[in-house]
Amino acid sequence: MNKEQIKIKDLPSPKGAFLVGHLPQFNADNKHQVLERWVEECGDLFKINFVGKAFVVSANPTINTEILKLRPEKFRRFSKIDEILKEMGVVGVFNAEGDTWKRHRKITAEALNAKKVRENYDVIVNKTNRLLEKFKGYSQNNKQIDIQKELMAFTIDVTTAIAFGYELDTINNKADSFQQHLECIFPMINERITAPLPIWRVIKRKKDKELEQSIAAIEKIIYQFIEEARVRLDRNPELTSNPTNFLEALLSDDNDVDFTNEEIYGNIFTMLLAGEDTTSNSISWAIYFLSQNPKIVNKVREEANAVYGNFEVPQTNKELLKLKYTNAVVQEAIRLKPTTPQLYMEALESLIVENLFIPKHTKIILQTKVAQTKEMYFSNPNDFSPERWLKSECPMHQNHSPEMIKAFGGGPRFCPGMKLAINEMVILLSVLCKHFDFKMTVKPEDVKEQFSFTMYPENLFIQLSSID
Ligand code: HEM
Repeated sequence: MNKEQIKIKDLPSPKGAFLVGHLPQFNADNKHQVLERWVEECGDLFKINFVGKAFVVSANPTINTEILKLRPEKFRRFSKIDEILKEMGVVGVFNAEGDTWKRHRKITAEALNAKKVRENYDVIVNKTNRLLEKFKGYSQNNKQIDIQKELMAFTIDVTTAIAFGYELDTINNKADSFQQHLECIFPMINERITAPLPIWRVIKRKKDKELEQSIAAIEKIIYQFIEEARVRLDRNPELTSNPTNFLEALLSDDNDVDFTNEEIYGNIFTMLLAGEDTTSNSISWAIYFLSQNPKIVNKVREEANAVYGNFEVPQTNKELLKLKYTNAVVQEAIRLKPTTPQLYMEALESLIVENLFIPKHTKIILQTKVAQTKEMYFSNPNDFSPERWLKSECPMHQNHSPEMIKAFGGGPRFCPGMKLAINEMVILLSVLCKHFDFKMTVKPEDVKEQFSFTMYPENLFIQLSSID
């Protein structure tokens, strides 16, 4: 039997204000939680408006999966994301659409495929060793650690090494202002994408001027890397068919297409943007859970000792694959605290998805987190229970629907960096649990979810004690 067609005008809506609609409530640092509250209030399909501009919000897993699949032909990311990134000089795979996206995507996906990630194993392990040494120092001095900041340095160093083969050493603060500039740029991208009016185009506030300076500084560094890589390729033509990093692959003459300097810059910047905060914040959330569950830390430690007991870090990809319990910890942290809890889509033509009629240009916010914490998909959904991800343990959990996890998106634009991110997370968490006990030095309820391009734990401070 055909389901009755639903029109957007008939969808429910949460309570909004006169004229400005839902904007004041949404314009907050925890906008993802505002959306979650509205899902509770209105169900998994509703509409909101920002000063008269309508948006559909879908927390319906079937609709969300379908929309993600229908790209790039029928849906695109919000056009505003492209507008803001382009204004900052970024033309890369994340904001490209249509055929342009296809050619950016091909080379990005190749640079991050399983084989390339395996080849980059040593990069992750080297950076892990570096962070381990630093943390040993902290534990000797009983230092309280701003874990999110430390992990950001770790992921910057991994991503820059993989993206352009460069040893930045942000972990030991030797990269001067690189991290600082990124920390200025990423939240401003978020702020501008969600700003009701482009005030910065009329008046330049202090933060807009700082942003300009940070962009100029990052541009200078990345363009310098591009020039150095060009010289390397000229001197070693064999690199053309065998590039050692993403930048060399972009510059290689063996590509079916030539990338302009602007596109090369844009894709390197995109790699940093997409790979840094997402991964470091996911590791931070895993540590948030581990610091409240010493028994789970013990299990991760026992596994590490069984797999690479005589060494400080896992030695090979094969050993990494044996860290199944740690992998389950990672999956569970991502389920409960996805750093990208919503995705922003726009219809390129009028169409019906499920039974919802979506006119051309409709903007749809896909709220993907709610399904990840629903009893009907995961038993005891709010418990941090890595066991649910282990094959041997699954039957004890009645509901277990991994296909509901959309933390890495879905369809053709699914995150190409997932394998790299998971490897980074598993290696680092295994090593940290092998060497340390964690103590959260603030109350768990004082750690707040904040949204600034990605969702991160604000106020998460940790003390490490060495068990070696
Ligand atoms: C835990 C870590 C990560 C999370 C949660 C995450 C999440 C996401 C999500 C939700 C998307 C949008 C997918 C979609 O539209 O369907 C995305 C796209 C993307 N991610 Fe990741 N990501 C992570 C790590 C990484 C890493 C390490 C890299 C590379 C260094 C990376 C590179 C990208 C790129 C290039 C895109 C754009 C893909 C496209 O538009 O075709 N990500 N990521």
